[in-house]
Amino acid sequence: MKRHFLFFLLLGSTALAQSAVSKGLALTPPMGWNTWNKFGCDVSDELVRGMADAMVKSGMKDAGYQYVVIDDCWQVSRDAQGNIVADPQRFPSGIKAVADYVHSLGLKFGIYSDAGTKTCAGRPGGLGHEYQDALMYASWGVDYLKYDWCNTLPGQDARSSYANIRQALDASGRPIVLSVCEWGGRQPWLWGKEAGGNLWRTTGDIQDHWAGRQKWPDGSCCSNGVLDIVDENEPLQSYAGPGHWNDPDMLEVGNGGMTTTEYRSHFSLWAIMAAPLMAGNDLRSMTPEIRDILTNKEVIAVDQDPLGRQGRRVWKDGDLEVWGKQMRDGSRAVVLLNRGASTQPITVAWEQIGYPGHLSAAVRDLWAHKDLGKFTGKFSAPVESHGVVMMTVNP
Ligand code: GLA
Repeated sequence: MKRHFLFFLLLGSTALAQSAVSKGLALTPPMGWNTWNKFGCDVSDELVRGMADAMVKSGMKDAGYQYVVIDDCWQVSRDAQGNIVADPQRFPSGIKAVADYVHSLGLKFGIYSDAGTKTCAGRPGGLGHEYQDALMYASWGVDYLKYDWCNTLPGQDARSSYANIRQALDASGRPIVLSVCEWGGRQPWLWGKEAGGNLWRTTGDIQDHWAGRQKWPDGSCCSNGVLDIVDENEPLQSYAGPGHWNDPDMLEVGNGGMTTTEYRSHFSLWAIMAAPLMAGNDLRSMTPEIRDILTNKEVIAVDQDPLGRQGRRVWKDGDLEVWGKQMRDGSRAVVLLNRGASTQPITVAWEQIGYPGHLSAAVRDLWAHKDLGKFTGKFSAPVESHGVVMMTVNP
């Protein structure tokens, strides 16, 4: 009897976690912009409106970017009724006014909270206020919630915490994308989908550098370079698919710590891994080179392919790698990656990407925007240091 009860309880919570309200969200990896990587706690009404404007003017909206997300530090306290209170200096018109503005541009609006008592920056967290906060977010017009894992209680269970906030969001009646920000320690790829998460962080925080794990200023461990994150996220490819994505963290493209070549590689690898593409740079003042990276529609099409396969590394020899991703139309996206210090030729053999060697296939370079012709069995190209050649191979 007891066992039956438990069974129905579990069944009930799973069914709720996949309620009709949030079904069909994030069928391709979410694309947008988030305040954190560039601005940290320096968030405001003016910043968010400016960035939403820039998202339209720069062509990013046309390229598919949608969510404008305020990360940590918008909140300061709770009122006597326990309602979350936005910083009145930084958001003098309140959060709803900002959300309305973002919506008026045809974009979507996102916000941040935390499953613990406080956010990572020490602002009030969501623990014990999940349903109340969800109603507030829905009344503001929130479309996307990033939910962090700082200051959780000893023994607090991540899966049920995220299932709880998903159920609270669904109970509000508004379809809201849930971004699980647990950093990978509790293996969210194993339970994130059932808990109702649409994406889950697989790693610690990204930093604006190419490679190497570095301690944070307070001595705690560690921020990750692009390559460290790539190596942690790659083996998880089987867990990703429409509605539920591995999240190797937000983009650092344009923040100044890497070369243009490295940013192109960063973006290409995120795209072939079907990662969420959340820009994190100042869209109001980006150079044409950076804008061209973030708005490369051919590379974005690889990320957004509706089959929803996360690409994987299919060959590696020292610093040289070949990555492949199956696309819905049967073609393959391919990245040739050179981690080394000098230009090297890299070859992709058709067998590595699931084609027979006798096949003739058209190769198109997605950064040069050029058809390179038909090739049988393999394709080779010189790849510059820390660079990629990204292409589609189409039989
Ligand atoms: C954590 C998250 C970051 C960011 C900060 C905000 O470190 O992983 O992405 O949201 O908190 O404080």
